[in-house]
Amino acid sequence: MLAQRPPMGWNSWNTFGKDIHEDLIKEMADAMVDLGYLDAGYTYLVIDDCWAEKQRDENGKLVPDKEKFPSGMKALSDYVHSKGLKFGMYSCAGLRTCADYPSSYGHEFVDAKTFAEWGVDFLKYDFCYFPQSGNCKQAYQTMSLALKHSGREILFSACNWGVEDPWNWMRSIGVHMYRSTGDIQDKFESFKKIGLSQVDNLCCSAPGCYNDPDMLIVGMYGKGNVGLGGCTDEEYRTHFAMWCLFGVPLMMGGDIRNVNEFSRSLMQNKELIAINQDEEARPPYRVYNQGYPNDWDTYTFIKHLSNGEYVLAYFNMGDEDRKLSLPFVGVGLPYYSGCGFHLTDIFSGEDMGAHYDIYSAQVPAHGCRLFRAKVVDL
Ligand code: GAL
Repeated sequence: MLAQRPPMGWNSWNTFGKDIHEDLIKEMADAMVDLGYLDAGYTYLVIDDCWAEKQRDENGKLVPDKEKFPSGMKALSDYVHSKGLKFGMYSCAGLRTCADYPSSYGHEFVDAKTFAEWGVDFLKYDFCYFPQSGNCKQAYQTMSLALKHSGREILFSACNWGVEDPWNWMRSIGVHMYRSTGDIQDKFESFKKIGLSQVDNLCCSAPGCYNDPDMLIVGMYGKGNVGLGGCTDEEYRTHFAMWCLFGVPLMMGGDIRNVNEFSRSLMQNKELIAINQDEEARPPYRVYNQGYPNDWDTYTFIKHLSNGEYVLAYFNMGDEDRKLSLPFVGVGLPYYSGCGFHLTDIFSGEDMGAHYDIYSAQVPAHGCRLFRAKVVDL
């Protein structure tokens, strides 16, 4: 089964935009293996928009840009596969891709076959220049059937930016992950907005098909194609922890050949990745802090894990340091139960001991605290 867990990998768009070529992609494949990303679970290496010639060939087939990819896509996918990685490519449901290259509208079955011949394992499918008379759901359905008929198992990553509430129907049409928001930018306000916009839709994610609030910006620090000032380390930590807690795909977007040590070890944090990949894929449950003003921008969650433990998560998305409290009655552990939570800090590994009734954590502005929790008798 494809996408049994939220897919993990790297995509060229955030950092490189149109400046992609086969040597770069090979270097990325090398970096994914040599720098420990593959071992951490990142399997898919995905080439985004701008890989094609501007026109199809005389047989109506897509053609890789002859200057950027002189050896062709099959040779490149062979290289990627030889590293133990899976190979992803990009097309679009509309008349042209967003960067004005040929798209698959009306060519779905030919293109799916072409991708299969090239050894593609993952297709990101965008939504630019979609005709007004077109039917969005049918268009994604057509590519879904075309991929299934292509003779190769290809993960279908839809990208219609949340148009027509995709969480309600993408699973039914065979998609494995679907972009539910506009594009992420490399700044705190961007990941805050798109991440939090999906809290109520995460209940539709489950093995086989996941909500995708876009690629990671961790480690970009304002460099690249979606750079807008960048984030602080604290903010990247919050972004990554949120994507892990939400159980959404982890597609890295930074230049992983040389992200700094902080970002590399964050994206390879075993415990956070295990939470993201938990086999039950339960979305987090938001616990509202009664009496806290809304404009504090605070979010507390509990997430059930398949091993019988929980994650308690405290996010301070506001601009001031805060003490956040999570009253345990809100997660079904009232005072009279005689039970409490034994907590371990997920980032520091510190044993926080057992707590009863409520736990309050000091959380810096734009920061988060995450705890692994076990129910214990007191
Ligand atoms: C956007 C999409 C981005 C990227 C870009 C390429 O529509 O959301 O993730 O793929 O197109 O042009």
